[in-house]
Amino acid sequence: MPNKRSSQSKIKGYCKICRQPTQLIFSFGQKPLANAFLSKPEDQEFFYHLYLVFCPVCQLVQLGDTVPPEKMFNDQYHFISSTSRDMSFHFKKLAFQILKLVSKKAKPFVIEIGSNDGIMLRYLAAKGINHLGVEPAGNVADFSQAYQVNVLKAFFNQATARQIYHQYQQADVIYGANTISHIEDLNSVFAGAQDLLKKDGLLIIEDPYFPDIVRQYSFDQIYDEHVFFFSALAIEKLANRHNFSLVKMESQPVHGGSMRYFLQPGKTRKKDPQVESWLKQEHKLNLDKIEGYHNFSRGIDKLTGDLKTMLYKLKKQKQQIVGYGATAKSATLLNYARIGPEILAYISEITPTKIGKFSPGMHIPIKAHQEFQRDRPPYTLLLAWNHQEEILAKEKKYRAQGGKFIVIFPQVRII
Ligand code: TYD
Repeated sequence: MPNKRSSQSKIKGYCKICRQPTQLIFSFGQKPLANAFLSKPEDQEFFYHLYLVFCPVCQLVQLGDTVPPEKMFNDQYHFISSTSRDMSFHFKKLAFQILKLVSKKAKPFVIEIGSNDGIMLRYLAAKGINHLGVEPAGNVADFSQAYQVNVLKAFFNQATARQIYHQYQQADVIYGANTISHIEDLNSVFAGAQDLLKKDGLLIIEDPYFPDIVRQYSFDQIYDEHVFFFSALAIEKLANRHNFSLVKMESQPVHGGSMRYFLQPGKTRKKDPQVESWLKQEHKLNLDKIEGYHNFSRGIDKLTGDLKTMLYKLKKQKQQIVGYGATAKSATLLNYARIGPEILAYISEITPTKIGKFSPGMHIPIKAHQEFQRDRPPYTLLLAWNHQEEILAKEKKYRAQGGKFIVIFPQVRII
């Protein structure tokens, strides 16, 4: 029997940054942890109340209810960055951008918050750059040893920052991709970065860009690990609160639309004109007030309804449908839409630790990609939609032989 924790927190609540009352954007109800794949369908599951709120003071979108980090990021963590060719290339390019940034510094020191399997730091290690990855998921961190990447198995916060400061040195760059938005005590992360960075250092944050999520209705990005959803508006306020300036932004094509934010210590640093233009666009979309999110909330139910209609129609025609990529994201989509094994026969996956398991909540079997290659099901729901280009290139033969992908965002369609 699933262990449905009755959520104590009421809808609404208070901002995690400024403690002011927040406003409800959308409630998905009780949901399982997105990366908690089950060994057997009967295994106990932890449920929490998944709902999204907006702080009108910080202009920061965030989860209303949060899960203790130890429940999500531990030695059984399933997310391994290097499973995607495009992500490996993305982080290689980033490593060279960082190398360029520190090239003129004497004895530079680079820290990565959430270094995963060393996908980025391996390039810095290979060039002999002083570095440290901070990674709480021990099993994943162990992969980086093969690349001589130095890792501290810990959560990054102000206490960890002080420990690093005393044990190592001040940092030239502190970088975090898809990790800073996972940390509930963001105030402690920013305070720690402020303590640890050199005066001319850079804090670089990269996360899914929330205005892109709003534009594409890609609500599956909302799950337990993603505590915060960033925009230029929110990052600038957060930066100022902690005596940083947002000086530059670079849009990135990964994770369905991401943004790289560059922050410098000090409140009055010169801003790249592009930052103003991003801010202007977000104001235009009304993302500085709750009204700007109403259309997004309506879109979530419309899209879910459209998807279910299409899948039920195909099932009525006795078509086999499978999922592609047992993403964390898909836990929100499949559980909210109540799509289970009676609709998706299985999910094709390449990550060895997920194969043979069952999807959280809906208990869809996860099978090796080889099975998908043998089966060639007529319809495949693209759950790993953020890797669409890479997957379509990989599955050229499947498509040429008549196999069809169902794409969900921003509109349900067959390709
Ligand atoms: P990911 O992009 O990390 O999304 P999330 O953060 O929501 O988990 O997950 C992609 C998943 O899809 C991962 O489990 C690996 C899998 N995958 C495949 O099975 N085949 C592929 O070709 C690719 C690119 C990914």
